[in-house]
Amino acid sequence: MKNYVSVKNLVKHYGDVCAVDNLSFHVGEGEIFGLIGPNGAGKSTTINIITTLDSYTKGTVEIAGMNIESHAAEIKKLIGVVPQEIAVYPHLNALENVKFFASLYGLKGAELDRAAREALAFVGLSEKLKMKPKQMSGGMKRRLNIACGIAHDPKLIIMDEPTVGVDAQSRDHILHSIQVLRERGATVIYTSHYMNEVEQICDRIAIVDHGQMVAEGTCAELVSMITEFNTFTLKTRFPANFDEKAFIKEVSAYPAIHGVTVHEDCVKIETALECSDFSDILELIRKFRLPVISVVSEIPDLDSVFLTLTGHEIR
Ligand SMILES: Nc1ncnc2c1ncn2[C@@H]1O[C@H](COP(=O)(O)OP(=O)(O)OP(=O)(O)O)[C@@H](O)[C@H]1O
Ligand SMILES: [Mg+2]
Repeated sequence: MKNYVSVKNLVKHYGDVCAVDNLSFHVGEGEIFGLIGPNGAGKSTTINIITTLDSYTKGTVEIAGMNIESHAAEIKKLIGVVPQEIAVYPHLNALENVKFFASLYGLKGAELDRAAREALAFVGLSEKLKMKPKQMSGGMKRRLNIACGIAHDPKLIIMDEPTVGVDAQSRDHILHSIQVLRERGATVIYTSHYMNEVEQICDRIAIVDHGQMVAEGTCAELVSMITEFNTFTLKTRFPANFDEKAFIKEVSAYPAIHGVTVHEDCVKIETALECSDFSDILELIRKFRLPVISVVSEIPDLDSVFLTLTGHEIR
């Protein structure tokens, strides 16, 4: 896969604050790339630099093989930004807002109208074309903010927490739309504090903290950095004739099993990360006539990775 965005040794100081501290990463063409990190980690600063909205102290950023300093004008045409702070005009209605932003990229007349309506349909605001932002709910404004960033059909879409305050149904709609945009050929950089969203749509994820790269990879790669196992703990009552040795031998014979321990009224089973299906083991448990009082599974996800690597859920 060709790199579409290359960030190398990027540094950004705001006075004494080092917001981005020697950050490097690449985004492949057609990828949905997640940028996550606690509050103040440097995500928005990085995004503002990539979108040429902010200056930087050191390093290089290339988009579509072009340096952002020497080719700022060409690069701006390729990018669509959905900023963290909602940036729409309160006195323009939804359609006028989207048309205004798309017109900045040279769209005109019937093409401009079609693109603006399509972008609004994309975020589920087709029924609200005439509505002004001040009449909209917070979630509607967020969706309008997204439509303004994508109407000109950008090659690179950068979204900074686009789903904050959006209800679950609209969020699903937005996440699905992002995947459709990618299928149409866009590359996406996506930041969010909602780990389930990032897990759901991002091909690769970078975790940043204090302006530095903490870890980078697919969700499965990140999970494998913090643990090698899924753990299932089964609460049971062992019958008097329970053959512990035979049970452990049979469970251990399954290829995905890493370990099994029997302790008081519990069986603890560790499986390979790729094994999330417990049904074979349950068969065996039935065979040994063990009642299943409860099963607790600890399957690590992006939340656990984030917590382990940054020490924070939200800061
Ligand atoms: N214009 C600015 N002037 C001074 N400091 C700034 C400015 N913008 C950001 N910072 C500082 O840079 C650091 C990184 O901020 P940034 O907004 O990039 O974080 P973030 O990862 O986007 O956080 P959040 O999840 O809260 O949006 C923070 O310490 C912040 O206070
Ligand atoms: Mg931010």
